[in-house]
Amino acid sequence: MTYTDKTHKRYTITSALPYANGPVHIGHLAGVYIPADIYARYLRSAGEEVLFIGGSDEHGVPITIKARKEGCTPQDIVDRYHAIIRDSFAELGISFDIYSRTSCAEHHHTAADFFTRLHDKGSFIEKTSQQYYDEEAGQFLADRYITGTCPHCGNEHAYGDQCEACGTSLAATDLINPKSTLSGNPPVLRETKHWYLPLDQDEPWLRRWILEGHKEDWKSNVYGQCKSWIDAGLQPRAVTRDLDWGVKVPLTNAEGKVLYVWFDAPIGYISFTKQLKGNDWEKWWKDKDTKLVHFIGKDNIVFHCIIFPAMLHADGSYIMPDNVPANEFLNLEGDKISTSRNWAVWLHEYLRDFAGKQDVLRYTLCANAPETKDNDFTWRDFQLKNNSELVAILGNFVNRTVVLTHKFFDGHVPAQGELSDLDRETLAELATYPERIGRSIETYRFREALSEMMNLARLGNKYLTETEPWKIAKTDLQRAATVLNISLQICANLAILCEPFLPFTAEKLRVMLAMEQLPWREAGKALLEEKHSIGQAELLFEKIEDAAIEAQVARLQQTKQQNELAAWQPAQVKPIVSFDDFGRVDIRVGTVLECTKVPKADKLLQFKIEDGMGTRTIVSGIAKHYPDPAALVGKQVCFIANFAPRKLKGVESQGMILSAEDKDGRLVLITPSDMVAAGCGVG
Ligand code: 2FM
Ligand code: ZN
Repeated sequence: MTYTDKTHKRYTITSALPYANGPVHIGHLAGVYIPADIYARYLRSAGEEVLFIGGSDEHGVPITIKARKEGCTPQDIVDRYHAIIRDSFAELGISFDIYSRTSCAEHHHTAADFFTRLHDKGSFIEKTSQQYYDEEAGQFLADRYITGTCPHCGNEHAYGDQCEACGTSLAATDLINPKSTLSGNPPVLRETKHWYLPLDQDEPWLRRWILEGHKEDWKSNVYGQCKSWIDAGLQPRAVTRDLDWGVKVPLTNAEGKVLYVWFDAPIGYISFTKQLKGNDWEKWWKDKDTKLVHFIGKDNIVFHCIIFPAMLHADGSYIMPDNVPANEFLNLEGDKISTSRNWAVWLHEYLRDFAGKQDVLRYTLCANAPETKDNDFTWRDFQLKNNSELVAILGNFVNRTVVLTHKFFDGHVPAQGELSDLDRETLAELATYPERIGRSIETYRFREALSEMMNLARLGNKYLTETEPWKIAKTDLQRAATVLNISLQICANLAILCEPFLPFTAEKLRVMLAMEQLPWREAGKALLEEKHSIGQAELLFEKIEDAAIEAQVARLQQTKQQNELAAWQPAQVKPIVSFDDFGRVDIRVGTVLECTKVPKADKLLQFKIEDGMGTRTIVSGIAKHYPDPAALVGKQVCFIANFAPRKLKGVESQGMILSAEDKDGRLVLITPSDMVAAGCGVG
């Protein structure tokens, strides 16, 4: 039973299917999977019938591009990443009822049947048009096979289907200066036939359903994006592609064509339901008593609010989503998370580096979830949330209560005696938490819900601090018994109320309190009977030390440096100089006789050079790169012999020593590959 919805009987909860071309990272988790899991766990605890669906999105061009790059098949790629993603979700406790994949045969059948039904009903328009084609690669350039400049924001790396900089959905022919990502060549136009969903015809009912019907209950970011799409005028949208990886178009005249990945992927939610529920699947999708909720990131809004609903509407027998609580994006240490730049915290790596600390990540990502605006994850904040909140508030309260119960009452729940005003107020406040937390979850305010749950632990700590049972027990054991009874009741309530957010902690708490998993409706009251024997105290959370955080920050620092090096390009060539002009620069080879640091100058080395005519002094700014100047004695260097003399830190420099500046800014002296006579010219 929920607090805000008395009309629905069951819930179909979907979470965006991640592309199986890489592992999942914290951005995916904070945006989609943690909120969806909290929602599903809460509803199950509230006694609702729930179906929570997940799976891998295994079609689409990014997967074929990766396979081509790695010299393997697309199936190899999706097999590899599907397993990593599935296992890491399971380890994090994401409680999918099914986690399937779109390359499986059942999905291909369901998606093909869906297409056929729409085709037979006349829901598509068939159109022959000019599309980009790569003559060298011998294929049409669908979606990410083509890049160019976005006509809306000027981003030079927009894809044929979407500009990731401004989020606009594009047709390849919209791109300015299009280029094939296969050969790098500008494409040519060729005729090809495709099937289109005439979204322009959907405008009236979409307007009624979303703009009039969901103004109040959909998040403003979701509503706003839908409104601007609809107001801009919807266009027919191609649902097929000229590719060989995907669900084959189930028509006889469609050789070499597959369904567009964004047509087949959301049907995955339906095919996975069929896989799990067999003949009973329809009630999850077609019964108006079912509430359908899609958890997604903001880049998926148009697909889940307009295109997929238009597909369901064209079929005519499906329910519409009741809500699409899309989140904004999570950044990492102030920078946009990026798979290609490896700027991410990958879930499977986190689980390896922080074994047993699933709930710390779940907590941090929920507390920082980008619910209304983009948000930032930092490792320092992660440490702070663990040490100052989970350890210091929740862990501390439970630990004090359980330890004191063992110390003074031999691990048995002591009797509640006469209640003081504070006891009564505390119990009255405890009774309000299930509804407070429940309502926040039901209205998709997960951060607020989590912070309410922690407020209950704060209430427990405050109560212990004010009552001091460890002192009172020495003089008034009965009073201490009442206090610990009430504290234990708060702990038992926390075991129920923290479960959607922190399932591993809830399990530990249940073991510690020797209690069953109880439903949400039981929370708010006393749950542990007098004399009930509890388990041993166990720390719920451990402090995270600086060294563990520093290692993560160092790894990111290293990634940043690698990215900078990878992005390095040689400087542009300077304007042309004539032979005569070049001849005026007198470059020679000299032998180093002495080399020392210039006092009080970090960067400067002072060279004494044999130049064939005598010796000269040259000061060079390379000290940081040659920490042992004496080692340069005897080496030969190139220098400009007619460089105007100048004073550096009081030393007259009679020339300039030549060095190369490497990608990373390191300066390397230029030396002849063989010994030559000092003073000979370079040209
Ligand atoms: O953006 C993405 O990662 C897509 N693979 C999400 C697909 S959601 C659904 F439609 F399957
Ligand atoms: Zn753009």
